[in-house]
Amino acid sequence: MTRVSLYRVGPVDEATQSPRVVPGYRQTAIRSPALFQRRPHTLSELTAPREQAKRLAPLGADIAGHGANQAIGQLMHLRLKVVDEDGAPVGGTMVEMWQANAAGRYTHPNDDDHAPVDPNFYGAARALTDESGTLEIRTIKPGAYPVPDSNHWWRPPHIHFSVWGKVWLSRLVTQVFFPGEPLNAEDRILNAIPSAAGRESLICRAAPTSEGPSNALVFDFQLVVRGRAATPAA
Ligand SMILES: [Fe+2]
Repeated sequence: MTRVSLYRVGPVDEATQSPRVVPGYRQTAIRSPALFQRRPHTLSELTAPREQAKRLAPLGADIAGHGANQAIGQLMHLRLKVVDEDGAPVGGTMVEMWQANAAGRYTHPNDDDHAPVDPNFYGAARALTDESGTLEIRTIKPGAYPVPDSNHWWRPPHIHFSVWGKVWLSRLVTQVFFPGEPLNAEDRILNAIPSAAGRESLICRAAPTSEGPSNALVFDFQLVVRGRAATPAA
């Protein structure tokens, strides 16, 4: 019997990818696959209803705390909008995010940096976009942090995002950066994107302070899940 693999194994089209091994960032060499495995989407994947929310319960998007349990840091609202290549909103999208606290420390056992943990800040959210493709996340602005064993590389403030497509086979993992941060110019991950326009597409926009609540800064970010307006690789 001939065994047919569901997975197509082979080299990828490099023109569609950012560099996987970033000089000076040791983990990229360790974690990058030499070969990619891609399972093609069949009719059932392309036409099936979204089921992520049934299997992965939303946790909410308000992670800044309240009252005596308020997280330390600059309160901010990030208005995320998920759109497709034509700018059409993608409602019902499962969005996950995680970030460091205001001191640049993750709530994770692997983070043993000197910066303090904030007992009132876990730093992760999971929620669905509404019909307009929008999700407003209430959080605190993350701090910068040094990358271990990297010869003085500090990550600029950033938030990690994971966006699920219609099925589990479809997932985009990316990072969102903040405008005007001096460390943006030195970040080895942000600058692994060759084009200035591509890097710019990962930086959120500061909304006028007249918008949103009076006690929080507001940032807008449009996340394009595919197509012409997606982050270019070259
Ligand atoms: Fe990070």
